Amino acid sequence: MASVHGVRCRECGREYDVAPIYTCEWCFGPLEVTYDYDEIRSTISRERIAAGPLSMWRYQDLLPVDRNPALDLGAGFTPLVRADRLAAELGLGEVWIKNDTVNPTNSFKDRVTSTALAKAVEFGFTTAACASTGNLANSVAAHAAHAGLRSFVFIPANLEQGKIVTTAVYGGNVVAIDGNYDDVNRLCAELAGTYRWAFVNVNLRPFYAEGSKTLAFETVEQLGWQLPDHVVVPIASGSLLTKIRKGFGELHKVGLIDEEPHVRVSGAQADGCSPVATAFASGSDTIKPVKPDTIAKSLAIGNPADGYFAIDAVRQSGGSIGSVSDDEVVEGIKLLARTEGIFGETAGGVTIATLRKLAQEGVIHRDERVVAYITGHGLKTIEAMAPTVRPTAVIPATLDAFHDAFDPSLLED
Ligand SMILES: Cc1ncc(COP(=O)(O)O)c(C=O)c1O
Ligand SMILES: [Zn+2]
Repeated sequence: MASVHGVRCRECGREYDVAPIYTCEWCFGPLEVTYDYDEIRSTISRERIAAGPLSMWRYQDLLPVDRNPALDLGAGFTPLVRADRLAAELGLGEVWIKNDTVNPTNSFKDRVTSTALAKAVEFGFTTAACASTGNLANSVAAHAAHAGLRSFVFIPANLEQGKIVTTAVYGGNVVAIDGNYDDVNRLCAELAGTYRWAFVNVNLRPFYAEGSKTLAFETVEQLGWQLPDHVVVPIASGSLLTKIRKGFGELHKVGLIDEEPHVRVSGAQADGCSPVATAFASGSDTIKPVKPDTIAKSLAIGNPADGYFAIDAVRQSGGSIGSVSDDEVVEGIKLLARTEGIFGETAGGVTIATLRKLAQEGVIHRDERVVAYITGHGLKTIEAMAPTVRPTAVIPATLDAFHDAFDPSLLED
């Protein structure tokens, strides 16, 4: 934390002191936290990290705020699971799943929320808020409850039951907006200018975004301080993808890995909301906003704030951005569940279906070590799967009924 330098405009490079600001006064560009990497390099080590907590806070030296126990529900250090059965089905060699479904509120958003709210408390805010496609709302409501902060979370009214119930249960204010995420976000930007509230992904966005780097840090540590060759990351606003790439770079900058990272970073979107994939495919870096229409509601951002930076990160790294249909999303969820025993939400289906597509297209190679980020839990988006799965048999509790229901050959060892 002492090693935070300030915040810098990602467009014009102007520097500012650390404060709850998010746009450049000069050019209105987005701001990003900067660090004194030489200073971090002089203290950080693999041993120091290994001695830290079994959570994202073991990488505190590379985060913009110290761990605040009141805002730590235990996010991070989630399993990195070797996925040989999935790899075999995809014709790939080495595939790993970063299973971020097992975070405290079952998505990677706990990483960004605990970072942003720790900073918010440092700045003296007492109300936590966000504009959300669902997972962030869960996370902000839970962390605010744990810390005793007031909360206002804003969501599109048409979200899945599993997102609304698991947010409202924490007892904060849940405001469902008659509109899509982009409408919600616009309202929140106005509210952030009206009330002194900590909107984690609006006025605290530079600090919020840094929490996602821990996904890259954990991946490398869990691979025995080896880099992956290729990662696949779902895109909504594009922040997660850009920060995972930044994370790999920082490990080298502070001397935790010798090798300069050449991790290919690929993005994943749903066809019904693919403004970043579309711009990438057309060779453009201008994103045309769209009206989302997909079952992958957590990724339904039609006008992505970090879309330009995501495209830039993907191009620089030699990756690609794929998009998949809603049917492919459902197939992707089932494929991961059936081969690896991991149940992802629709964003996970987008990621696995895109992984499959990029493997089929030869973009992802058999000799690459691949990591796919599964960022939210399937129990939150039951509606997407309910019409497609059912019990194998529904029978009375008798042996006869059981034997009637199954061909005997299915029952042999
Ligand atoms: C489960 C899940 N994965 C990925 C993302 C993408 O995050 P970003 O907006 O940083 O691109 C989101 C965003 O809400 C999400 O809910
Ligand atoms: Zn600027």
